[in-house]
Amino acid sequence: DDPQALAEFQARIDRGERIEPKEWMPEGYRKTLIRQIGQHAHSEIVGQLPEGNWITRAPTLERKQILLAKVQDEAGHGLYLYSACETLGVTRDELFEKLHSGAMKYSSIFNYPTLTWADMGAIGWLVDGAAIMNQVPLQRTSYGPYARAMVRICKEESFHQRQGYSIMMKMAQGTPAQKEMAQDALNRFWYPSLMMFGPSDAESVHSTQNMAWKIKINTNDELRQRFVNETVPQAEYLGLTVPDEHLRWNDDKQGYDFSEPDWDEFFEVLKGNGPCNEERLGARRKAWDDGQWFREGLSAYADKQATRRTA
Ligand code: 3HC
Repeated sequence: DDPQALAEFQARIDRGERIEPKEWMPEGYRKTLIRQIGQHAHSEIVGQLPEGNWITRAPTLERKQILLAKVQDEAGHGLYLYSACETLGVTRDELFEKLHSGAMKYSSIFNYPTLTWADMGAIGWLVDGAAIMNQVPLQRTSYGPYARAMVRICKEESFHQRQGYSIMMKMAQGTPAQKEMAQDALNRFWYPSLMMFGPSDAESVHSTQNMAWKIKINTNDELRQRFVNETVPQAEYLGLTVPDEHLRWNDDKQGYDFSEPDWDEFFEVLKGNGPCNEERLGARRKAWDDGQWFREGLSAYADKQATRRTA
């Protein structure tokens, strides 16, 4: 890239201007956006699987309707994000191909199993809570289509988080066995939720450049700290215990000191060795293969319509 063009581009970012699809951008900026937005889109779609697992087993009709709506929202989020990604010159088919071949990632969190109904609560409360913490600042990200997609996504995520907390509240105030299920779900999802923010700042390869480009607004550790600060009082309100014996309020930093997640586990999950990686990717690949006849039908129909119009 031409140094003069790069400097002008950076100056636009520094002035807080939005970059729009047809405008010039450095190749690195375009590539990293495709990586991040694509990974985010994949996370929404793969994220449907652990919860989809519980739709048929929701304890009441109302909970079933709510969960169904939530899982459907995730599909919508995936679609806005794939569309935002396509404005960068990549096709949706290419993105799917990269997901299916393992060349592109999706969030580590969705490689953990959902064993009980309380996990629906923990996912809404913690996983969607972490997602919001990360995504609210992204409404101010420098790439226009991504920033705009985030506005609606964040509104919906906030509903998702509340529905999760509502499940946790019901369980925590229920029978001792239900409360125990809620505690168990918190125990299992706490550290994987902390991992969602990415590796520690020292290990984060993309943060410096992406923050300069305002693709990222905060560092991984900043957001993780904010998440812990907000979530611990919510756990206390539920009467549940965060599974961290080193958790302490630190007056000096006006935040909690807490234990780091097991980063070896995190990197193993990223490499494909988490508890459900194979199952999740297998389900996505199967959905793609099973949909082949439908995509072909749609294309054939579109071709027919186009021929009719020109005839
Ligand atoms: N899961 C999987 N991969 C992760 C990860 C995670 N939790 N955290 C980091 N990584 C990967 C990065 O992608 C990068 O790998 P790559 O170079 O092969 O792509 C590597 O680990 C190093 O991490 P960095 O900190 O350098 O990477 P980033 O600067 O991209 O920061 C991020 C990671 C904070 C996740 C950032 O990409 C981001 O903010 N992404 C947008 C938000 C997003 O993707 N959210 C998905 C979460 S869940 C969701 O949206 C569904 C909701 O409905 C619950």
